[in-house]
Amino acid sequence: MPLAYFSSEGIGKRGDREPTELTGFEMTSQKVRYFFSFAVVAGLIFSCVVGRGGNEIDHATWTERGKTTLAPFKEKLMGALKQSLEEGPEAAIDVCKYVAPEIAQETGSPGVRVGRTSHKLRNERNAPSEWIQPLLDGYLRTPGKMEPKVVQLEDGGVGYVEPIYVKRICLACHGSALSPSVASRIAEHYPRDEAQGFEEGEFRGLFWVEFRELERESD
Ligand code: HEC
Repeated sequence: MPLAYFSSEGIGKRGDREPTELTGFEMTSQKVRYFFSFAVVAGLIFSCVVGRGGNEIDHATWTERGKTTLAPFKEKLMGALKQSLEEGPEAAIDVCKYVAPEIAQETGSPGVRVGRTSHKLRNERNAPSEWIQPLLDGYLRTPGKMEPKVVQLEDGGVGYVEPIYVKRICLACHGSALSPSVASRIAEHYPRDEAQGFEEGEFRGLFWVEFRELERESD
């Protein structure tokens, strides 16, 4: 019989019953229900606030901005590479050396910097900056398809990185069977080159973007 007091029917019919010590049981049951309802609502509110990011950056917006910023950089870089390869990979090495940094500079704007980096560098000037290193390590630990990432920078800026994969066209200068003339040209410019021996489809490094807010300065 006391089991009935735990059913939902029992609640709200308390007036029909004589007050016995069982009412205490019923109250406990209700309290438990209230407690759980409260816990669920509180949990939902908490997860919404945290999910929205609170102080965090909006990943979707910054990913979109990162992609849009990089698009012309990638396009111009590939255009220059293809065009220069028509004259032979030896000439194209010069393009990569001199033109790539220029294109990076052109693509940037006040408050926005772009570039490329790698775990196996050809030019040490492309070494990963402090905020990129842990991301690069993370990508290297996670095989398979890798998504772009957005991080909050210590100075309040936002960093965006996007993985670069080796295509067939890259192999002439980053693969494992370089022609002797390419190999010697690379050795001449980059005596400490580590960016050889890659295979098609392999993770080559990262495109990166740094966004810094300038609006505050002009306020
Ligand atoms: C004609 C030769 C050549 C080809 C083809 C080529 N690269 Fe490179 N790559 C270079 C040179 C030279 C550098 C060094 C540029 C510099 O001094 O900043 C470089 C640098 C890089 C870097 C910057 C990091 C580093 O190691 O210094 C990345 C990333 C990169 N290449 C990826 C690629 C990808 C991806 C492709 C194919 C789409 C490609 N490269 C095709 C010659 C080439």
